[in-house]
Amino acid sequence: MDDHTHSHCSHDEKSKDNAIDQNRRKFLTRATSVIGGVGAMYAAFPFLASWQPSTRALAGGAPVEADISKLRPGEQVIYEWRGRPVFIVHRTPEMLAGLEKLNDQLRDPASYESDQPAYAKNIHRSLKPEYLVITGICTHLGCTPLLKPEVGSVTSTWPGGYFCPCHGSGYDMAGRVFKDVPAPLNLPVPPYKFVKDKLILIGVDEQQGA
Ligand code: FES
Repeated sequence: MDDHTHSHCSHDEKSKDNAIDQNRRKFLTRATSVIGGVGAMYAAFPFLASWQPSTRALAGGAPVEADISKLRPGEQVIYEWRGRPVFIVHRTPEMLAGLEKLNDQLRDPASYESDQPAYAKNIHRSLKPEYLVITGICTHLGCTPLLKPEVGSVTSTWPGGYFCPCHGSGYDMAGRVFKDVPAPLNLPVPPYKFVKDKLILIGVDEQQGA
């Protein structure tokens, strides 16, 4: 996948099937006020300014170190691994508590269908509950979802999570996809491990013996 693909939707794939379009319309009706173009998306996404693509990582898929010692509760930092954005969020106790209430609204709450290592196949989808490490590529057509953690910030019933403005898909604070949106799957979780308490290595994990 090149850089282009995840920052813009693949509009040549625009005609999926009717069922998806219908779901999309339903969700868009609820979310109209936040739909914007690419400009609006970037304006609402200041994290990109500090996103430092690594030539080495792009070229070889080398593991990427993520220092999270300064990441305060509620904040997100973005790293790049294999040309893809990896979101790391320091979740608050409230964000974690909220996950359990959402199962009925999610397409795959136990992550049976989605792509994640075994240690992330749990309700918080991570090694340590407070730290979410997730690939920031919408499972619909590859846009970059926006972190919208505040309750009610997308629609009046929005519980907090990730919102993809391209076609209105929503994910919770564990990257689990909501029902009735175009995206079919939860956001993927890349392999990773903690090399120190506040230092994550993205791209390898204990299972790989690295
Ligand atoms: S790319 Fe279509 S909703 Fe995200």
